[in-house]
Amino acid sequence: MINENRDVGTDIIRFHRIITRSLKIVIQNVNRFLEIEAIEKQKREGFLKYIQTFSTVMDAHHILENERIFPYYRDKLPDAPYDRLMTQHKWIKTSLSEINNGIKNLKSNSDELESLNLLKTSLKQIDKIWHPHMRIEEEQIYERVGSLNPGPEENNTLKEEFSQFFGEHAEPAYLTVPFMLYNLSPEDRAIIAQGFPEVVTKKLVPIDWKDKWKPMQPFLL
Ligand SMILES: [Fe+2]
Ligand SMILES: [Fe+2]
Repeated sequence: MINENRDVGTDIIRFHRIITRSLKIVIQNVNRFLEIEAIEKQKREGFLKYIQTFSTVMDAHHILENERIFPYYRDKLPDAPYDRLMTQHKWIKTSLSEINNGIKNLKSNSDELESLNLLKTSLKQIDKIWHPHMRIEEEQIYERVGSLNPGPEENNTLKEEFSQFFGEHAEPAYLTVPFMLYNLSPEDRAIIAQGFPEVVTKKLVPIDWKDKWKPMQPFLL
């Protein structure tokens, strides 16, 4: 049964893949736009939505870890370097604020090259921190969650609490939900989709919300 593939640890490891992929895609595109000295016209709306959603989703993930996940596992998996990880979240947050400023400038059509360069520098900072950061979390926390043997009830309660908390910090859902689903491989997407109510995956994403997130499609899987 597919459901056996999911606990809090495996869910977050899959979530990290969303961030890893979208970080790669925003870096590639910023570099490409810098080469041609502007954002391609037909990709502009979609790219701004995509990078804005990347920033929101990454920030919400760190708020979730700081305020819910780390406090929950601190006693249960005491060897993980929680304080160091939270310091790294702070560094990333600083770069995400710069990215948000860059996006604001691009939207107001102020100096395009300067804004793209600001994005490039901030993304580089994040890229330097993200990969080792995520590996520490996975090795020292998320891959060990299974060994704590949470019963199915505890597992479900936690998954629900964490995804609700994340959702409250990751608005608007009409962008963040399709962003999450379609930065994942079909196999991972099918598993993560189980965490959403059917109305979200069968109706809202493919029908009601489609026009809003469609511009991001060139960047999605
Ligand atoms: Fe983290
Ligand atoms: Fe994380």
